[in-house]
Amino acid sequence: MLLRWRLPPEPSARPFAPPVFCVHPREPKTYVVTAPINILVVDDVPQNLIAIEALLARPGIALLKAASGAEALGLLLVHEVALALVDVQMPNMDGFELAELIRGSERTRSIPLIFLTAASRETSYSFRGYEAGAVDFLYKPIDAQALLGKVKVFVELYQQKKQMSQQLEELQRSLHLNEMFMAVLGHDLRTPLSVVMNGAMLLPMMTDHPKVAVTAQRIQSSAKRMAQMVDQLLDLARIRSGEMQLRRTSQDVADLCRTIADEFVLPDRPSRVTVEGSGNTVAAVDAGIFAQAISNLVGNALQHGEPEHAVLVRLDGSAPDSLRITVTNRGVIPVIQLAGIFAPFQHRGESRKSGQGLGLGLYTASTFVRAHGGDIAVASEEGLGTTTFTVTLPRREQAA
Ligand SMILES: Nc1ncnc2c1ncn2[C@@H]1O[C@H](COP(=O)(O)OP(=O)(O)OP(=O)(O)O)[C@@H](O)[C@H]1O
Ligand SMILES: [Mg+2]
Repeated sequence: MLLRWRLPPEPSARPFAPPVFCVHPREPKTYVVTAPINILVVDDVPQNLIAIEALLARPGIALLKAASGAEALGLLLVHEVALALVDVQMPNMDGFELAELIRGSERTRSIPLIFLTAASRETSYSFRGYEAGAVDFLYKPIDAQALLGKVKVFVELYQQKKQMSQQLEELQRSLHLNEMFMAVLGHDLRTPLSVVMNGAMLLPMMTDHPKVAVTAQRIQSSAKRMAQMVDQLLDLARIRSGEMQLRRTSQDVADLCRTIADEFVLPDRPSRVTVEGSGNTVAAVDAGIFAQAISNLVGNALQHGEPEHAVLVRLDGSAPDSLRITVTNRGVIPVIQLAGIFAPFQHRGESRKSGQGLGLGLYTASTFVRAHGGDIAVASEEGLGTTTFTVTLPRREQAA
């Protein structure tokens, strides 16, 4: 059907800005010319195509003209389109049929559609597929000003969408780069650090000077702390890059906890950690990764709990499908801190002031537990004066 136009009273000022330039974010002085924005117009009447082209033509906009639904689908196969103007009454394939095919394909389903129709408003809404993307109607005779206004809105939306996806890509690239950087740095720091630790160990053997022994001891403990931080940064890089792969084997988790407790025993001091197990304490875990999670919890209990008090690690193996591990210490965590305690860099108070930790221990512990399909929770009660971290671990492998 031939379109009749209601032309604007005056020649319109350019209603939408041509999308010609964008600034490259990393090199502020370089301008990159973006490709023109494609608008698809589908109409079986050639005069209508010409009229719409004349109305919408401006720099930065490319009109793709199709005389039928089939031609339009062919154009959509090779071009990315910001908006499609579709005449509803066409022979063979009408505008709604074409629109349903457009909505059916993943690549084109979000293209906004403007139907040009002479039908009543009620029948126009028989189109199915509104949920997939924006749909609008223009009723004949077409008001040129209204058409320009609607096209302007959709072109601007398209530009914003493009800009946002470019920014997202850029962000993801720099995030990936940061993580790579952290992983490489963490890995390469280990070698010189082990030289420092070995040197500090050998130093007291070379001389009887008491000050050397004290200094060497300080170097050793600082280097050990630094090695722990490097390990944590490497863990963080592994978590963030999504490269954590579990190698599960059947383990007695109570034995694993006893080994961890032994690692915290100081020379010439009784152990502060007690491990108690009941029932079946065997589960399929990645021993290295799971041990690290428990080690973080026990280390925290010793470091942040009330000094000199015992830390209790309890394993409850009475349930058939899961294992419950609790780590309890004296001392409470302030309520304000509890809400985001499993997020990274949540260390407070002494830990932050003294620079003892990075605030990554609970974040890595919770991530490692969840990677096993398990769950972690904390209860810190003023009344009891204790803090308990509870890990629930499925015995068998489950989707994480
Ligand atoms: N068992 C606990 N008792 C009391 N406070 C705790 C306990 N566990 C954690 N916290 C508090 O939660 C904070 C975060 O713990 P997290 O293990 O994430 O970091 P961190 O121990 O400070 O440093 P990092 O573990 O990276 O060396 C701690 O700084 C501490 O304030
Ligand atoms: Mg910690």
